[in-house]
Amino acid sequence: MNDFLNVALPKGRLGEKVYSMFEAAGFGCPSIRENSRKLIFENEETGVRFFWAKPSDVPIYVERGAADIGVAGKDILLEYAPDVYELLDLKTGNCRMAVAAPEGFRDNPARTLRVATKFSRIAKQYYAKQGRDIDIIHLNGSIEIAPILSLSDVIVDIVETGTTLRENHLEVIATVFPISARLIANRAMWKFKQERITLLTERLARQLEEEKQ
Ligand code: PRP
Repeated sequence: MNDFLNVALPKGRLGEKVYSMFEAAGFGCPSIRENSRKLIFENEETGVRFFWAKPSDVPIYVERGAADIGVAGKDILLEYAPDVYELLDLKTGNCRMAVAAPEGFRDNPARTLRVATKFSRIAKQYYAKQGRDIDIIHLNGSIEIAPILSLSDVIVDIVETGTTLRENHLEVIATVFPISARLIANRAMWKFKQERITLLTERLARQLEEEKQ
């Protein structure tokens, strides 16, 4: 039963894109494309079982071995710091972690900076390196409204196209790091299922190489 290669994919557009890469690498499961509310799909022929997880939960499934491998953004890996192997940069889901503030914002270093974010660990580490005194306001979404409502001075959040910032009269004041999706593996399962995981990783890496050319 547990001989399937169990794969946790992030539910949504990124997960669908990554699934296509897995399929092209010979690890497909056609039933996943059927429109349904099902969350788990398996293919006896290729021996792979996929399940859709909330993106920020993927590392939890992988770290605890409920999934052998999974796909998670670098943002989530740095925020939750799961004890997993990071096998490959999938070079998709590209965006960046940034500090943003209302247009024209000027920092007053004499005052504690109020930072609203979903990524508290990342924000704390970023400002600790600068020796800047901050007050973290942890939110779960729609971070952009925090400075508009004076709940915070700045935000630390993901910027992809920049549209959300622009439409809310905010601007990037610093980039924290670039983000892309990563293939991750459970440490013990990587050893047990090394052959298949290595084959998949190599084929995905080859696809990325071919795309570049
Ligand atoms: C993310 C992020 C920004 C937005 C950035 O939000 O938190 O709000 O995408 O994208 P853009 O630069 O292309 O506008 P998400 O949709 O994940 O929802 P959230 O409000 O729950 O964070």
